[in-house]
Amino acid sequence: MEIDHTRAAYFFDGMTDGFLPEATMKAIRSFLETENLYLSATREIATKLENLNDEFTYGKDRNPIHQIKTRVKTPKSILDKLARRGLELSVRSARENLTDIAGVRVICSYIDDIYLIADLLTSQDDIEVIRISDYIKNPKPNGYRSLHLIVEVPVFLSTGPEPVKVEIQIRTIAMDFWASLEHELSYKFPDEKIEAVTKELKDCADVIASTDIRMQNLYNITINPAS
Ligand code: GTP
Ligand code: MG
Repeated sequence: MEIDHTRAAYFFDGMTDGFLPEATMKAIRSFLETENLYLSATREIATKLENLNDEFTYGKDRNPIHQIKTRVKTPKSILDKLARRGLELSVRSARENLTDIAGVRVICSYIDDIYLIADLLTSQDDIEVIRISDYIKNPKPNGYRSLHLIVEVPVFLSTGPEPVKVEIQIRTIAMDFWASLEHELSYKFPDEKIEAVTKELKDCADVIASTDIRMQNLYNITINPAS
């Protein structure tokens, strides 16, 4: 099996019992188990999405999904977020309070595909919808657009099914382009963003949004005139 150097497990590989105090080893083991659980949850969701996309490839000769990316928050990032919110620093607290330990990003070609994929996924029996935030119908003030779903998916362990929360961000290629660059730029201009930068970013987001609508219209009149 290929070793993933980004996983926390890699850093603790080879540490045998007795290497660290028992309490520390217990805490590490609990983090690793949790990381694995969330990793499994992202795989469950990614598989569901791939299956839906493949069905379209062969059944309808098109792909609503352009790309799927998954990630699990690192222990450091989990602890940072709990600390920022003044919450208890423990695995239990992370599982109870954080909804974005497991993340899946779905990049679609067209706006309508976003809602199609969201509907098809959330109507599956084993998916429980916890929250939907539609930042496409209601963009954030800075221009950010995406459809966010927090869902719970069962991961089947040897002890039985374990419901795990996953944050799913669904967006078009254009929305992803904007969000990626905005994320990078906001590191350079952290809290007090220069007003001109904020305005320029918002303008770009609006241009991109109107282009997305034009592309959707083009799709509707060319590839899918029946819709
Ligand atoms: P977080 O504590 O950041 O997770 O916020 P939240 O729980 O209020 O959730 P929200 O729906 O606002 O954002 C969740 C995730 O969406 C973030 O972690 C980012 O990945 C993405 N996101 C939200 N707003 C923005 C934004 O303005 N710019 C970019 N680039 N990404 C964003
Ligand atoms: Mg987040």
